[in-house]
Amino acid sequence: MKTINIAIDGPAGAGKSTIAKMVSSKLGYIYVDTGALYRAAALYITENGIPDEDIEKSLENADISLKFIDGTQRVFVGDKDVSDLIRTPEISMAASRTSAIPAVRAYLFETQKKIARENNVIMDGRDIGTVVLPDAEVKIFLTASAEERANRRYKELSVKPDCPPYEDILKDIIQRDYQDMNRETSPLRQAEDAILVDTTELNLEQSADEIVRIISERTAGEI
Ligand code: DC
Repeated sequence: MKTINIAIDGPAGAGKSTIAKMVSSKLGYIYVDTGALYRAAALYITENGIPDEDIEKSLENADISLKFIDGTQRVFVGDKDVSDLIRTPEISMAASRTSAIPAVRAYLFETQKKIARENNVIMDGRDIGTVVLPDAEVKIFLTASAEERANRRYKELSVKPDCPPYEDILKDIIQRDYQDMNRETSPLRQAEDAILVDTTELNLEQSADEIVRIISERTAGEI
């Protein structure tokens, strides 16, 4: 069976995962958050104290996988569900660093391809439209200004007692953007045939509606 693949790329904090989840539930597709794979690899590397030169070899035994439980993605290292453990600022920064290592990208490449071969997916990440699914039916590049992304993150965190100052969040976002866009292997960039959606002035509903509209237009007759 031919599957339909939608690629959504963009910088950290653009709302990719929330919006892609909304779109996938509207369309009945599986939502694949590939950042979780990079975070799980970073967790594995950090917890085991693996030096860069040993990463390629040790990943052979890492057994990082995605499982879809009631349509919701969970990420595993071996048989341990690490979906919650990977959501810390330390792992965000570690993932940004280790995802630049070619051996890490090569290791996760086939995992991502296989899911897309077997399912209708909305897959989000940094290099989905450019490298992982170059033949995706629809490619979206989702972005928003760094200030607006920091603002959203600050609002999310401000309910917690240890919320960092806005300036620190903005600095973190700018640093991650720089790392993701300037690495040698698969840097974050808009694919030539991707459609740019800037959500600086849009709320979540408006962003999801815009993407559903683009997908319907591009896949007319296919879905
Ligand atoms: O989307 P995220 O913040 O969960 O991603 C964590 C890190 O993983 C991010 O800094 C960039 C990297 N990443 C990547 O290089 N390629 C992907 N397809 C997804 C994420």
